[in-house]
Amino acid sequence: MQPRTSPEVGGMGHSMKRKEDPRFIRGKGNYVDDIVLPGMLWMDIVRSPFAHAKIKSINTEKALKVPGVLAVITGETLAKYNLHWMPTLMSDTQMVLPTEKVMYQAQEVAAVIATSRYAAADGVDAVEVDYDPLPVVVDPFKALEPNAPILRTDKKDKKDNRIFHWEAGDRAATDKAFAEADVTVKQALYIPRIHVASIETCGCIADFDRVNGKLTVYMTTQAPHAIRTVFALVAGHVGLSEERIRIVSPDIGGGFGGKVPVYPGYVIATAASVVIGKPVKWIEDRMENLQADSFARDYHITAELAARKDGTITALRMKTLADHGYTDAAANPSKFPAGLFSICTGSYDVSKAFVEVDGVYTNKPPGGVAYRCSFRVTEAIHAIERITDVLAQELKMDPAELRMKNFIPKEKFPYKSALGWEYDSGDYEPALRLAMDKIGYAALRKEQAEKRARGELMGIGISSFTEILGAGPSKHFDILGIKMFDSCELRIHPTGKAIARFGTKSQGQGHETTYAQIIAEELGIPASVVQVEEGDTDTAPYGLGTYASRSTPTAGAAGAMAARKIREKAKKIAAYLLEVSEDDLVWEPGKFSVKGAPSRSKTIQEIAFAAYTNHPPGMEAGLEAVNYYDPPNLTFPFGSYICVVDIDRGTGMVKIRRFVAVDDCGNIINPMIVDGQIHGGLTMGMAPALLEEISYDENGNNQAGSFMDYLVPTAVESPSWETFKTVTPCPHHPLGAKGVGESATVGAPPAIVNAVVDALSHLGVKHVDIPITPEKVWRLLKEKGVAE
Ligand code: CDP
Repeated sequence: MQPRTSPEVGGMGHSMKRKEDPRFIRGKGNYVDDIVLPGMLWMDIVRSPFAHAKIKSINTEKALKVPGVLAVITGETLAKYNLHWMPTLMSDTQMVLPTEKVMYQAQEVAAVIATSRYAAADGVDAVEVDYDPLPVVVDPFKALEPNAPILRTDKKDKKDNRIFHWEAGDRAATDKAFAEADVTVKQALYIPRIHVASIETCGCIADFDRVNGKLTVYMTTQAPHAIRTVFALVAGHVGLSEERIRIVSPDIGGGFGGKVPVYPGYVIATAASVVIGKPVKWIEDRMENLQADSFARDYHITAELAARKDGTITALRMKTLADHGYTDAAANPSKFPAGLFSICTGSYDVSKAFVEVDGVYTNKPPGGVAYRCSFRVTEAIHAIERITDVLAQELKMDPAELRMKNFIPKEKFPYKSALGWEYDSGDYEPALRLAMDKIGYAALRKEQAEKRARGELMGIGISSFTEILGAGPSKHFDILGIKMFDSCELRIHPTGKAIARFGTKSQGQGHETTYAQIIAEELGIPASVVQVEEGDTDTAPYGLGTYASRSTPTAGAAGAMAARKIREKAKKIAAYLLEVSEDDLVWEPGKFSVKGAPSRSKTIQEIAFAAYTNHPPGMEAGLEAVNYYDPPNLTFPFGSYICVVDIDRGTGMVKIRRFVAVDDCGNIINPMIVDGQIHGGLTMGMAPALLEEISYDENGNNQAGSFMDYLVPTAVESPSWETFKTVTPCPHHPLGAKGVGESATVGAPPAIVNAVVDALSHLGVKHVDIPITPEKVWRLLKEKGVAE
């Protein structure tokens, strides 16, 4: 798309440099841990060494004698105020601090408040807890067996460990299609537990001002408004009503979904500050972050496809067991216990489908956060893109050809999927063709055949994914009943500069730049003089925050709509100043001019000045607008990725030789930022495919509780990503834009797995679960007799 504005104005389509970067690269960012308040105290947390145990006693005597330690808070302390349990975002309940038993290794058991972090840590060491270990349930399949110990004994009516059963689609019609199919394939796959592992861990400073009764919490949260409402609901009974709570989310060092939930640490620090009357800081260390914060994924999926001999897919069936840990603290919209997993028909025109998911309690940390993913779309796309390749292998068909045959045709959009979604727009074939051209698909297949003849292992993997981004619409989407819209409040100053505040919260996505570009596009005010603010509940308009790539589809749209309201008023002022009727005016970015007399015009800056100095009689002064945008639908970006791998027969090491990514996120606001999002997303997609996993031993001990074992990729492990675009505008977004932040994390893993399986398919390999570690591959090679 050719930009409509000049580079100086910097509207849509300009690769404007990020306004936030000068402060980040000079070390001038302002993160929670940078904030130091007068008289501030420190909090550190005692954590359980057991995954399931009764607490017989907690002795705080020695801890209270440690120099600098002021208080030790236990579940009993909080129980006096009925604050020892809190609701999760999925309307389950979660312990803030336990009074009876612990349910996972590293669970919070008590908190020590001290004058320094060192003293707090020493205090933690001195707290004596007497535990009585209970049987541990690690395996979600075993958790559902009739003789499994019931974990949630706090729920009086609970007779098993099932959290929910959820299903979508037509079971009978799907079963019939499977019974009548020429070919059926079935594959069990496990999408393991992973962790967002953002550079900045979680933390907060709770600051209760006893004089005016106001609580300010500086917090690493992606959703400040929702958190404030949750705080008001949980702590209203102890006098913290919503107008007295201010949540400030300063710069955030990566969120990726992990900073959506309310963690017990936030509540304990707040309770401590309210009781002591001083600011209390709590910052997790890396191991606490990896062991106790919300995890992602952990889906055990059985995927099936039915097809005709020619490769036409006739039906899809998926059955999933979701391990949620000891409480359902997923960050899904309320009505979607399995998130948006029902997007699992992906990019294909599948007329019959049925999907069911069972959520299960185990002795693991709670969660199910959408790690750079729109509520389980990553799991869904992994399953469909994998099983499509299994079908191609069964039919001995090229996986690209099979995809082309089954893509939803362009003419069918808006497309109603068998599982109930209405895809807004799409054009899948050109994206895959572009990827094939860019990577040189035909030549690679030839090279592969030659290498195979020589015993070398090379594979080519494709993933043609469809994403689902931008929750709302509010008629379907809410969190704890709060409808999922988002907002912008835009004010134009007399000299034509602007401030725009949003209900979202950037964690590195560059909102200060792209939101300013949206205003520039709509009003012609240079993006460089549009100040963007988010994250302070005292000043920003109410919104549900940033996750699931919802910012552009919701708050970005609100920005455009608020600007359009301003343009309407500006038109009235221009007509008054130029002494013509509004109908005689034409708009081009930055000014209104008189039809047929272009020299007679008023710039937006002149109009802004008049709004405060010479506005029409009877009109309100000023130039500002608010918009709460409730999207009519989600946006459905898509893409086709192709990955080429070489596998070392001596070590089992998988090397990504090339990776071509073609993305389509509709109209693009800032091409450079979109490329950055794709690069980061691809790296975060490679991570679970090849490296990352949080596993547990039979006693529920986390096996990847530090960066020694939880392998986060760096630039060294990352290939040189090759990125390209197609543009299929969103028909319902005011700017034609779709979300993009998570597309690559969703699309990349199956492309990598498909490439690895493709490299080994002639040996009879049909599937490999992620992470595809060298050891896993080497064992497979050994089993097939080809390891060197
Ligand atoms: O909610 P989140 O910011 O994570 O995701 P997003 O809406 O996909 O946007 C990520 C970044 O890419 C933001 O800075 C967007 O403004 C930018 N973007 C863009 O420039 N053009 C698009 N079509 C979509 C996003």
